[in-house]
Parts: sequence; structure tokens; C-alpha cells
Amino acid sequence: MIRDRQVLADLKRRNGCEEPMNYPHKDPLLGLDLFFAMGKAMQSGQMLNLNKKLFETYGRTFQFKSWGTNVISTREPRNIQTVLALAFDNFGVEPVKQKESGGSLMAKGIFTADGAIWARSRALIRPTFARPQISSFESLELHVKQLLDCIPRDGTAIDLQPLFKRMFLDTSTEFLFGESVNCLSPETSFRSSQFLESFDTSMHGLAARMQLGKLAFIRGRDTHWKNAVRQVHEFIDSHVERVLRQRKSHDTVDNNNVAGKGQSRRYILLDEMANETQDPMDLRYQLLHVFFPAHDATGIAVSDMLFHLARDPNRWRKLQSETLAVISSGPYSFELLKSMKYMRYVFNERIGLKQPGLRLHPLAGMVRRVCHKDTVLPLGGGVDGKAPIFVKRGTRVVMNIHALHRDQDLWGHDADDFRPERWESARPVWEYLPFSGGPRICPAQQMVFTEAAYIVARMTQEFSTVENVDPEPWTERFRMTVESRNGVKVRMICD
Ligand code: HEM
Repeated sequence: MIRDRQVLADLKRRNGCEEPMNYPHKDPLLGLDLFFAMGKAMQSGQMLNLNKKLFETYGRTFQFKSWGTNVISTREPRNIQTVLALAFDNFGVEPVKQKESGGSLMAKGIFTADGAIWARSRALIRPTFARPQISSFESLELHVKQLLDCIPRDGTAIDLQPLFKRMFLDTSTEFLFGESVNCLSPETSFRSSQFLESFDTSMHGLAARMQLGKLAFIRGRDTHWKNAVRQVHEFIDSHVERVLRQRKSHDTVDNNNVAGKGQSRRYILLDEMANETQDPMDLRYQLLHVFFPAHDATGIAVSDMLFHLARDPNRWRKLQSETLAVISSGPYSFELLKSMKYMRYVFNERIGLKQPGLRLHPLAGMVRRVCHKDTVLPLGGGVDGKAPIFVKRGTRVVMNIHALHRDQDLWGHDADDFRPERWESARPVWEYLPFSGGPRICPAQQMVFTEAAYIVARMTQEFSTVENVDPEPWTERFRMTVESRNGVKVRMICD
């Protein structure tokens, strides 16, 4: 023990490590004061601002206690790069000593596992996401048409956010399971709001249990949560059973034939995964992990783009001129969407700077890791934060992507403003991480841009103007993701 302490002291000295700033807890043992302050801020839509203030007060990297565990909070790009990429093997998502993470809802999968289990899950989805033509414009257009049909053309106000979310429930169920729930269709029998509620409840319960750690048994009798989990499982299992049945009877539809010549092939994740494993439980959990971000992440990103464009008629027109000019050169294709520079700027700006990149994991705007092996991070120590810091095994590291994206030292004094033009010259690397970075980077980022750009381009084609009818500023609502608390209330105008 004494020897260990000497080794550590030596390591710190050799690396010139100093202590990071400490949050001045009223409860220095467990840190419950800050924990409850964060809970309150989350309820009132002020969580992102609270975090921003903490960084402004205690520096780019500081430490605090949460339920007695040391947590390092950082928005320092070099520290983030070290955790996510350079010292990838020293950090994980699983607690150091816990055998199971995520309880019965998720089991271990791409979001909750490290090491071999994570690598296998990543390998299972990699081939599908690596395909350049992952989105099929033919099927996307069918869903966009249904969405457009739901938007009034007589100037009646509408909230676009629930529509976009339902549309992505449709597209994601098609991409994941090969069968859309078609909840935007007038003939649908699928009770999307009930299903989404169950999904949210199950995810919330999961997040709460993960936060409680060893105390998770407190919520053991929560039948509401258990019912929600059962419904989510039943939904996914029904698709798994269908596909396995089809495979057995050699009934699987050959998508190459369906698409025909000249059309892009529709990739279905469950079909591709079933080529690798036919274990129904394995498939259930692998799919659940992808369904988690897939069902609403892009819908929220598109909602946020529209939220700002509705408040900025000049930029709407600028984007519209670009899309109309580009589209006139040929039918939609990946290359065409990629060539829309201003679209990319609007997407980057919205998805990165104004909304906490993401989502998932577990609570949006933050990417979390646990230190599995003592590590030195390059910055954050001492009063000026310039010295390296020592991170002991078991310490949690929270990388605050939202605060990183609003750091005025990195993004200028207008870091809080919606200004897509900044991307004409901005070339950030580890300063801009809406999709995270390193080996666990979001595998869907190309698909997300393609689908978001397609929908926004179609909106600019279909409507001459979008008028904001909501006087409120963007306010966050934390679920498992962060979305606009007031939705996106607008009037869509046709000429
Ligand atoms: C606006 C949309 C999205 C954003 C901003 C986003 C962001 C992210 C981020 C930040 C991570 C890394 C988390 C970490 O390092 O712990 C991640 C991981 C992941 N994302 Fe996304 N995502 C989006 C949409 C999607 C979609 C639509 C899918 C699936 C169709 C998806 C699938 C995944 C998966 C499977 C991982 C886990 C990767 C791993 O741990 O190896 N994401 N995403």
C-alpha cells in the first residue's frame, strides 16, 4: 500500500501533475448539494446553463463529488482527445467493479459494454453503416411525402417537432427491422405515442438505475418501469422472430431484386445482423442499443435546424437559394447533398453549437467514461489549469460537449449565436464533437447528415417561407436526449 502510494506520487511528480480546481461542496463527503442542484436545473430547463456557468467559474477542467465518487468534468479539447482516443484503452463506459451494466433493459451492448463485447457489437453494425449508400432516397421520399401531407398549407400554425420525431420513428423502424411502423400514415394502427412513452419510461428508469449504481435495488418494485420494458422487448422481439422465421423458410426478400437496376439498395440492419448471429436474445439487445439513438436523434436535429431557420428569414432564403440551385442540376443523390455547402454549415451549427450534440449517452450533451487505469491528462491542473492532472482508476470523467461547443475562447464571443457562416473558416477537430471521437465515434454520422439535409432541402422546395409563431427562446427539455421544450411552432407558407 505504502509502496503504491510512492509509485503514484512519483508518477505525478515526473509528469508535473497538479490538482484540478475543486467544486466547493457544502456536502464534501457525498457531493449531494451539487447533485440536487443539477436535478433542479434539469427540471427547469437550466441544466445546460448551469454547466456552462460551472466551467466559467472553475475553469475548463474541475472536479466534484457525486454520491461520494470523484468526477472530473472537462471541456478541454486535449483532455477529451486523450480520453476518447489517445488513451482509449484506459477508459471505459462500465464501472470498474460492476459485472452487469444497464440491468435487464439493455443488457450489455454497444452503449454499455467495453472490451470484447463492445468490439463485437461494433463489428456487427459496422458493415451496414460503412456503406456509402446507407439511406435509400426512394423510401425516405415516401416518409417525407407523408410528413408534408400533415403540414397545413392554409397558414395554420403547427408544431413540427412531434411530426419529425414520428417520421424518424417510421424511417428508423424501417431501417432497423425492415418494417416501418408508419405512424405518419392516416391508416396507421400503431399507437406511436403510447410506444414512445413506454420507450422513454424504460430509458429513464435505466438512466436512474445506472446513476444509483449499488443503490439501484431501491427501485426494484417499480412495476410501471417493468411493464414499459416488457412492451419495448415485445416490440423488438416480434421483428426478430419474423426475420428469423423468414430466414428459416428461405423467405427473405432479396433487396437487390426489389430495388431493381439503377435504384439504391435498402439496407436493413436486422437482416445484416442476422447474417452474423441468429440468437434471438443477442439480436434483441444489439438492436435495442441502435434503436435507442435511431428513433429520434435525427428528428430532433432537424427540428432544431427548423427552429432557427424559422427565426431567421434571411438564412432560410439563403439556404433555399442553394438547395433550389443544386437540385435543378439533377435528382437527389449523396453527392448532390454533400455539395450543399450552406446546408452543411446550418447542420453543423445547429447540431453542434446550439444543441448539445448529443443525446444518448446517457444524458445529452455529455460523454461519460470511467477511468479503468491510472492516467495523466495533459491539462487542468493548478490555478491556471495549465498543468497535467492525474486521474486515478475508478474516477469518472464527464466530457461536456455542450460547454465545449460554447467555449468563447474556442468559438469567439458569439459562441452562443446561430451563425452558420462561421463554418466558412472554422476547421475544428477536437473542439467540435457532436458525434464524439475516437473508436466509439457515432457510426451514423453520415446517415444523419444525408437524411437531415434531404428533409430540409425538401421543405425549402415545398414551402416558400417558414414563419415562427413562438415568442419563447430555445429551452431545453432533458429526456434521454435534449430537445426543444416548446417544440417548433411555425406556420409554413406556400406561394
Ligand atoms: C443527431 C444525431 C446523432 C448524434 C448527434 C449522435 C451522437 C453520438 C455520439 C456523441 C456518440 C458517442 C457516445 C460516446 O462516445 O459514448 C454516438 C454513438 C453512437 N451512435 Fe449516434 N448520434 C446520432 C444519431 C445516431 C443514429 C441515427 C444512430 C443509428 C441509426 C446512431 C447510432 C449510434 C451508435 C450505435 C453509437 C455507439 C457507438 C459505440 O459506442 O461504438 N446515432 N452517437
